Amino acid sequence: MRTPVIAGNWKMYKTADEAGAFVREFLPLVQDADGVEIVLAPPFPSLAAVAALTRGTRIGVASQNVHFADEGAYTGEVSARMVRDAGAAYAIVGHSERRHYFAETDEFVNRKVRAALAAGLVPILCLGETLAERESGRTIEVVERQIRAGLAEVPGSAAGRILVAYEPVWAIGTGKTATPAQAQEVHAFLRGTLKQMWGEEAAGAVRILYGGSVKPENAAELMGQEDIDGALVGGASLSAQSFANIVKHR
Ligand code: PGA
Repeated sequence: MRTPVIAGNWKMYKTADEAGAFVREFLPLVQDADGVEIVLAPPFPSLAAVAALTRGTRIGVASQNVHFADEGAYTGEVSARMVRDAGAAYAIVGHSERRHYFAETDEFVNRKVRAALAAGLVPILCLGETLAERESGRTIEVVERQIRAGLAEVPGSAAGRILVAYEPVWAIGTGKTATPAQAQEVHAFLRGTLKQMWGEEAAGAVRILYGGSVKPENAAELMGQEDIDGALVGGASLSAQSFANIVKHR
């Protein structure tokens, strides 16, 4: 049994005060939600505050990015060890906005995945095709390249400490969700690829989340699919009420 994960990616939203207000409103709303891992990914400046406010609760904290080096002259960057030290247990890696706006390549993303694991963080490896790639029939080819490259040199023994998030780029922030069948098709393919890489048992241990316009209204249907083990939620995670509704209606 894979424990589902519902993760909220706040992107570049919320000051520390706003983050604190969210957590205070959110905690009582999810206190009875059993059998689910809940993750919040605030911007760096409020990461430590959110980690402190959620310590001892069922909520874990993620960074939205990490650098791949342990430390060094990389102005503006933050290492996995620093993120861990600030109280995070997870790190989002390779989000499509980072790939698109910050030119992150598969090779970069792979180094970040390995840096996160080495620092004791659970990487949330994001991947997904663009609209042009889907329309030209290249979805499977693209996600296969992304998952194989993203997890290169990662051993199958790490399977339980890795989350993959399939996020079709055309569904992110657009209100257009992949249908449950479209998402399940890609999730099943990703799990099959993991099986080729790592064998059946390890592949079965990886939680594969869906992301892209997940809302309280569509969460249950998406997460009812066999290979969809949770959600990575952007816009709908900014309100405590709507994010709690996704946690409860998974
Ligand atoms: P969205 O974002 O839920 O606003 O589509 C998802 C994401 O970018 O992780």
